[in-house]
Amino acid sequence: MKVILFGATGMVGQGVLRECLIDPGVTSVLSVGRSPTGQQHAKLREIVHGDFTNFSAIESELTGYDACFFCLGVSSVGMDAERYRHLTYDITMAAATTLVKLNPGMVFTYVTGRSTDSTEQGSLRWARVKGKTENDLLKLPFKAAYMFRPAGIQPLHGVRSKTGWINAIYVVTAPLLSWLTRVAPGHMTTSEKLGRAMINVARDGYPKAVLESEDINAI
Ligand SMILES: NC(=O)c1ccc[n+]([C@@H]2O[C@H](COP(=O)([O-])OP(=O)(O)OC[C@H]3O[C@@H](n4cnc5c(N)ncnc54)[C@H](OP(=O)(O)O)[C@@H]3O)[C@@H](O)[C@H]2O)c1
Repeated sequence: MKVILFGATGMVGQGVLRECLIDPGVTSVLSVGRSPTGQQHAKLREIVHGDFTNFSAIESELTGYDACFFCLGVSSVGMDAERYRHLTYDITMAAATTLVKLNPGMVFTYVTGRSTDSTEQGSLRWARVKGKTENDLLKLPFKAAYMFRPAGIQPLHGVRSKTGWINAIYVVTAPLLSWLTRVAPGHMTTSEKLGRAMINVARDGYPKAVLESEDINAI
């Protein structure tokens, strides 16, 4: 399986990249980011791209892939509504519409989050925007598209948040988070389980297009 990965420098994307690099069934990974991952690996190639609303200049390099793991995303905290919508909806749809045109046989997986609002009518702004993004992705003519809605994610194997104090919290609470993943799989998963689940679903499919934390942990 040849994979394109967006968001490889983020906490979720680092975990997905790790699992891709160690999975023998993933033959190559193309990271598309605005900054390099800093990693070197025989299976990894990177494109540093400037404008995430327009991929026309790199289309020839985005052809011939089986799966896209779209882990690019931002927190809505402290962000104005239009900017959050732009970074969440516009960027994701720009990438997805380009990829589906170039790779109609592709499986596209998107990371949203628990409580994403499929009705697009609820009270939480971020959840409506993520819901619309999911809904519109599911209308594109990919071979298949899957929406991953993790709740909490425990970073494992050196995966780090880009925010220092968040890393400190993960270190201090690691035993609690491991326990929560076991006893409350609807509320917590790990970067390893999320990466493994994305690879397995892209390869083998899944009965549901929207996967909650329980699904991610059960795969
Ligand atoms: N972390 C969690 O516990 C958690 C839980 C549930 C859901 N999620 C969801 O998972 C997704 C990823 O979260 P994360 O924790 O991995 O976030 P993160 O650590 O902040 O990483 C965000 C990623 O998106 C990229 N990015 C952000 N803005 C960009 C832009 N304007 N243009 C190009 N690339 C951009 C970043 O690239 P740079 O490195 O260049 O900034 C980075 O690769 C989000 O949608 C989030 O809601 C996360």
